[in-house]
Amino acid sequence: MTKPSDVVGVSPRWEEIHEEIRLAGPTDAKVLITGESGVGKEVVAHLIHKNSRRANGQLVTLNCAGVPESLLESELFGHVRGSFTDAHRDKRGVLEQADGGTIFMDEIGEMSLRMQALLLRFLETGEIQPVGAHGPVKRVDTRLIAATNRDLLTQVAQGAFREDLYYRINVMHIPVPPLRERAEDIMALFQAFFERFSTQYKRPLPSFTDEAAGFVQTYRWPGNVRQLKNVAERLVLRDAVRPLTVADLPREITEDAVASAGPVSAPGEPARPDRFERLLQGESFWTVVHEPFMSRDITREELRHIVRRGLTRTHGSYRQLTALFNLPPNDYKSLLNFLRKHDCHVPYKPFRTVAAPTKPATAAVTPAPPAEREPAVARAAAAPPPAPVAARTA
Ligand SMILES: Nc1ncnc2c1ncn2[C@@H]1O[C@H](COP(=O)(O)OP(=O)(O)OP(=O)(O)O)[C@@H](O)[C@H]1O
Ligand SMILES: [Mg+2]
Repeated sequence: MTKPSDVVGVSPRWEEIHEEIRLAGPTDAKVLITGESGVGKEVVAHLIHKNSRRANGQLVTLNCAGVPESLLESELFGHVRGSFTDAHRDKRGVLEQADGGTIFMDEIGEMSLRMQALLLRFLETGEIQPVGAHGPVKRVDTRLIAATNRDLLTQVAQGAFREDLYYRINVMHIPVPPLRERAEDIMALFQAFFERFSTQYKRPLPSFTDEAAGFVQTYRWPGNVRQLKNVAERLVLRDAVRPLTVADLPREITEDAVASAGPVSAPGEPARPDRFERLLQGESFWTVVHEPFMSRDITREELRHIVRRGLTRTHGSYRQLTALFNLPPNDYKSLLNFLRKHDCHVPYKPFRTVAAPTKPATAAVTPAPPAEREPAVARAAAAPPPAPVAARTA
């Protein structure tokens, strides 16, 4: 398991999560952690436990998807020898194993209705009665942390998850955002995993070229941190002494970049350059991107991707992006307004970690010293909601 000291996060979103962990840790309140697969829900659960008065107690994990219905009571409450055919000896259930500590119920959205009823009963009374035991019930002091990548409220609406249980486990809620929404963490995670795996395998510490760094920072990372960790491990094993180029990256990353910039030719037609390439070849952003976006031919995520690719080249400068997208300097504000209005104003900071254009074309993963803020962008970011730029396409 990831040690608390190995947990990486530098983004403002991660800071918020850390703050929630600091608040939730000492309280004993039940916590529900939600988020896509691989975002680090289990990591967050461990940090909460370590931040609580139970840190010296056990953190017991139960994967709710993996418990056979026939063994539910026994898993949760334990059993006494001879209570059923395979009960050769007394066994403590997970709720008792976690007495004085924390029970982490993973994939709680997969819990059967029967298991939900058993858990609810326990949460109401704090009492356990091992299967086959006849003595008085035991009380345990176990804190519950639950996690799921499902939308529990939808499951409640569908009758698959009990509403009373939902409110009981959701005293504090920590949603862990996907990696693509905290892009600042991407390079920091690569750095940490590169160091870890190059030590483990005794291989050279990799670095990225500017372009490769841009690709990994703009990729969607559908498998989140788990996927990034696997990619980092594979890259260390390439044993490269030179900086890694785009050609060294796994195809899942490079192909996604092409796909998400949107195909612009019909099937059977000779391939036309993607929209980003067309911008590089001198076509205007308003024609190549704005217009199809307004008529919904490209999605918000595709638009963001194009912006990220541009920011990779301009090292985070929106002013230079305006020029790169073949717009006159006067369109700078309209561009920002348009992007902000449609929630596509990508934070520029992660792109500042890449070496400046005047330096050699390699980006050590170690973040470069922070470049000065771009005051105009900072001002624009704080500006009131933008005016529409609808007339632009006319
Ligand atoms: N902030 C982080 N710093 C370092 N490692 C991390 C971080 N977040 C996640 N990881 C690593 O990524 C992997 C996936 O994390 P974790 O198992 O916590 O994800 P999860 O959200 O529980 O995923 P799933 O929904 O698939 O169970 C683990 O190997 C974990 O150690
Ligand atoms: Mg998990």
